[in-house]
Order: sequence, then structure tokens, then C-alpha cells
Amino acid sequence: MTEESNSVVSRRSLLQAAAGLLLATELPSFPARAGSPDGYRIVAAPARARLVDPDRPETDVWTYNGTVPGSLVRLRQGKLARLLVENRLAQETTVHWHGIRLPNAMDGVPGLTQPAIRPGKSFAYEFTPPDAGTFWYHPHANSLEQLGRGLAGAVIVEEREPAAVDRDLLWLLSDWRLTGEGGIASSFGNRMEAAMSGRVGNTVTLNGRASEAEVVRAGERVRLRLLNASLARIMALRFEGHRPVVVAVDGQPCDPHEPEGGRILLGPAMRVDVMLDMQGEPGRRYDVIDDFYNGLSYRLTQLVYEKRLPIRGHALDALLGLPRNPLPEPNLASAERHTLTLQGGMMSGMMSGGGGMQGGGMMRGMMDMGGGMMGMGNGAVWSINGQSMTGDGHAGMEPALVFERGRSVVLELRNQTAWWHPMHIHGHSLRVLSRNGKPVPHRQWQDTVLMAPKDAVEVAFVADNPGDWMLHCHVMDHQMTGMMTVLRVA
Ligand code: C2O
Ligand code: CU
Repeated sequence: MTEESNSVVSRRSLLQAAAGLLLATELPSFPARAGSPDGYRIVAAPARARLVDPDRPETDVWTYNGTVPGSLVRLRQGKLARLLVENRLAQETTVHWHGIRLPNAMDGVPGLTQPAIRPGKSFAYEFTPPDAGTFWYHPHANSLEQLGRGLAGAVIVEEREPAAVDRDLLWLLSDWRLTGEGGIASSFGNRMEAAMSGRVGNTVTLNGRASEAEVVRAGERVRLRLLNASLARIMALRFEGHRPVVVAVDGQPCDPHEPEGGRILLGPAMRVDVMLDMQGEPGRRYDVIDDFYNGLSYRLTQLVYEKRLPIRGHALDALLGLPRNPLPEPNLASAERHTLTLQGGMMSGMMSGGGGMQGGGMMRGMMDMGGGMMGMGNGAVWSINGQSMTGDGHAGMEPALVFERGRSVVLELRNQTAWWHPMHIHGHSLRVLSRNGKPVPHRQWQDTVLMAPKDAVEVAFVADNPGDWMLHCHVMDHQMTGMMTVLRVA
């Protein structure tokens, strides 16, 4: 670790603390030394954080570099990065660089791609991110608890030419289950919950703090990077009085478009970058609402306009689109085709709507122990193609599918359950082709595909990255209880 990169880390952490984690383009840019890797030192360790208002007690959390969310990692597209992770937790950990197409050995799955990092030890992750965009990092060991106690941070891979915006902001959204005393409820791994929506919490933070107001200036154009780092909470964000334009999903630029019904759907682990022209009136406030769960909508924050005059008369007419990443285009004509069927969990007609999961009476459902799950005896409640891999990943997991390197693959994901599942693939990005038989309009690539109950989604990719890769649901309790499999690129 060079001194330079150390000071980047500490300057960043200070700035983040001072700026209430409003991560704007004003951040110091990377030390630009030709040929030197972009370096970070990331220490996983317990700390305390104020998640809610000042008169609520502080919360014991697990952090990367002392803050929740952890240090923002800024990398450059096509430039070697070196991230030294030190484990000062009392248990093993690893770091997974979610969404980044990197070599298998750097993927952070314990047992499968590396030995877990023992307490007091460290591991150096090195890779060159091929894609610019919004990504994130989190543990892949004891994931439910480690992520649930706060271990998460954003990775921004900068485009070679920055987008023409006034400010570049990140909202890292996290869902916590806090007790009345301000602690994190310790009941991780409740089996009943795992068979339903997963551990949905009671407190949502924006960059580590419950937010009342995000200050904006009339007339400015903001690139807003939304990242849902929740264990299980799905979000649907509406910006009252504004018309956000989606320009990237899961870090991958798409055709700019307004979201359906003005709602930005964000499953756990998903990212959506929007361009937001601040067309409101100086001095006014506008609600940002999350209304995903029926009857449980709440105000995430408010956009609070400064009183100053608009910085410009008209919205910018610079182009909204971002430059595409170098993703290999699958050849659909020659692709091999496979189906992955998701089964299990509680069944109930009451749950099929917008995901109303917190009402009473839900416990009356019954277990749909689909296909080969009978008698697994390993705590599984979910399965993929009749197999249930539980936990975080480990050695000796037999791949469900093996692809020859370079093959184009079409996967049909079929959700036969009564629940939503954000399905995540490691090491690749998936081109989403169709949903329930209808072609997807905006040329979207995703690493985490949110599936509604009974959805069938077709995705395609080129299996060009050799190694064993996880494919799993990113509702952490679903992953831990069996909704996980391995795909091998040989
Ligand atoms: Cu973001 Cu396998 O995980
Ligand atoms: Cu799931």
C-alpha cells in the first residue's frame, strides 16, 4: 500500500463524514500517476454510527473504514485497481465486487474462489474494471448478518469522459431492522421470514442516515446513482414534480428512458443511474416516495430547493446517454438455451399483489417444497432446478450448467414462487431479452434481474469469463436458504 493511496482513503472518509456523505463530483480525483494502480485499503471492523436523528442512540455497526456506508471506491475504467481488505471483525469475511466483470480469483466467494479472510488477516484484490458505471462491494461470508450489520460500499468506475452534468451524486440506500434501543435486531436467519420476503427492516437510510432533506439548486442537472444495498427490501421510487430519465441499470448504460409509471424499481443489489433536471421552484420542497409495498409507502426524503435563482433558464440540452461499455454481444441464433426454475417458499394467494408482506395472517401460508427439495435436510426452503445450495458458497459445489468458453447462452429464468427475487449472476452481465414473452424495450443489461412472482424472463450473455460463478437470489435470506447455484465457464 503506498502512502498516497492511504491518504486518499483517509481524506475520503473525512470528507464523507463532513459532507454527510453527499458524494459529489467535488471529491478529490484519483492521484494520476501513469501505470500506478488505483489503490485502496479497506478495513472491515466494528464501529458506531448515528443512523437516525441526533436524539436516537447510536448503533453498533460493522463497517468498511469506520463508516456506513463504507468508503466510496472510485476506480477508472480500464485501469488496474488494487484493494487491500483487512479483516478486523471477529469472524471470517470476504469482499465481492458486485457487478464488476473480473477474474474469478478476485470474485470473493469463500471456498469457491478464495479462502475466507480470517480475523486479523488481509487479502489483496486486484483487477482491471472493463466497464464504467455504478457498482458496489459487500461481504460474501455470513452475508445475511454481515450485510445486515452495515458492511456495504459503492464502487464508481469513472467513464473516460465524465458525463455533462452539474453534479454527480450517489444515494446508497440501506434498510435496517433497529430495536427501540437503537441496536440492530439480532434475529438473523429466521426461517419463516426466509421462506417469505426475507428480512425487511424498519428504517431506511440514505448514505447512512435517515434523510429529511437533500438540497438541490433550481436548473441543475444531476446524475443520481441509486443503489439498493438492502438485505431484502424492494423499492419503487417516485420523484414528485420531477421526471427522472434512466440512463444506466446495474452500471450498464441503456437507452435513456423514463421509468414505467414514473416509478424506479430497485430490487436489492440493483443500481439505477438517472439524469434528473431540477425543474422545481426555488424555495420549494418535493417528496421522494418509496411506494413498493401496498399500503406501506413512506417518504424517503425531500428534494429541498435553495432559494437562489435557477442556474440556467432551460434544461441542459446536452445528450443524456452514457457511452456503452465493451460488453460482448451474444449471438442469439447460435446460443445454447437452458431454463432455470425457481421454486419453494411460502405460498399464498394473498401475496401475489405488490408484495404486501407485513400484514397479519401471512403465516397461514404453506410450504411449497418444490421438486427435489424434499428431504434436503440442510435448512433449504428454496431451490433452483430442484437443487438447493445453501449458505454463502463453498468448495466442491457442483455446477448446475457448464459452458464452453465463448459460447452464447440464453437462460430462461422462471419464477414459480409467490415471491419476488432479484437474481444475480457473478462475473457477467446479462442482456435482458424479454419478460413474460414481451421484448424488453430499452436494451438493458443487468447483473441483478428483479423477478415478480410467476415471472418468466429471458436473458442472454456470452460465457467469456472462465471460472465457477454464483448465480443466486440477492434477498440474502433466500440465498442462504437455497436459492443459489453455480455456473461454470470451462
Ligand atoms: Cu452481490 Cu453473490 O452477490
Ligand atoms: Cu429471492
